[in-house]
Amino acid sequence: MAPNSKVTVPFVRSRKASHGDDPLVMITAYDAPGGRVAAEAGVDMVLVGDSLAMVVLGYDDTLQVTVDDIAHHTAAVARGGSGFLLVADLPWMSYHLSAQDTVTNAAKLIRAGAHAVKLEGGRKRVPMVDALVAAEIPVMGHIGLTPQSVHAMGGFKVQARESQAALQLVADAKELEHAGCFSIVIEGVPDEVAAMVTESVGVPTIGIGAGKHCDGQVLVWHDVLGIEDRVAPKFVRRYANLKGAALEAVSAYAADVRSGAFPDDSESYHLSAEQVEALSLYGSQD
Ligand code: KIV
Repeated sequence: MAPNSKVTVPFVRSRKASHGDDPLVMITAYDAPGGRVAAEAGVDMVLVGDSLAMVVLGYDDTLQVTVDDIAHHTAAVARGGSGFLLVADLPWMSYHLSAQDTVTNAAKLIRAGAHAVKLEGGRKRVPMVDALVAAEIPVMGHIGLTPQSVHAMGGFKVQARESQAALQLVADAKELEHAGCFSIVIEGVPDEVAAMVTESVGVPTIGIGAGKHCDGQVLVWHDVLGIEDRVAPKFVRRYANLKGAALEAVSAYAADVRSGAFPDDSESYHLSAEQVEALSLYGSQD
C-alpha cells in the first residue's frame, strides 16, 4: 500500500498470494502508542485481539474479556493511529447466543472505531456471519486453533493434524467465505493444511502458527517486541527485546533514585535570582 493511503475491506478482500500480491501484514495492538507505531510502520491491519486478556490484563486465557474491554482498547488504538484496517475481536459469549446479540455487540466495537470484527469458529458461526453482513459489518473468520475453545480443545494445541480434520477445516473456510467473511485467520495448524485452505478460498487467509503459504501473517504485539518473555511459541519470531530493555531502564532509574543521582540540577525547576533574594528577605524578618 502507498504511504498515507487507507487500507479498506475491499482492498484486503482482493489480496491473494496466488495473484502475485504481497502478503498482508497484520499485528495486534491494544493502546494508542501501539496504534501510532503500527501506523508509522505501515502495517495493513491492526487487530485488537482478545489476547488482550492474556498479554495486557494478566489472565491465563482469553475467556475473561468483555465487549466493553475490547471497545475501550479499540477506541485507544483508533485514537493512536490510522491508515490501517482496524479489526476488533468479538469476545467469548458475545456472538454465541443470538444473531441480535451478535450484531448489537459488534456495533459497539464499530462505534468504538473498528472497521470490522473477527469471530472464532467454522460453519456453526454462519448464521452470525450472515446477520453481521446483513448489518453491513465486515467480518473476519478465525479457524484452526481457536483460543476461545481452550477447554473444548483440552489446551492450546495444534489443530487439524489428521486428514479428516484438515478436510473439515477446508469445508469450514469455504462456508465462512460463502457467508461473506472478507478474510480468514488460520491459527495453529500444519503448514500443508493452511496451504490447502488458502488454495480453496478466494478471500485472503491470515496465518499465525500456520506456515508461510497463507496470504498474510498476524502476530501478537508483545511477542514481536519481546515484551512477553515467559512463553515462546515455536511460530513466534521476536524482533526486539523490550522486556530486557525495560528491566534495564527501570532498574537504572531505581538505582539513581536510591543513590541520589536522580534528579539532578538540570532536571529540576529553579526560582529566578530575584525570587530567591525575596525569599531570603522574608526569612531574615523572623
Ligand atoms: O486475539 C488475538 O490476538 C488473535 C490473534 C492471535 C489472531 O486472535
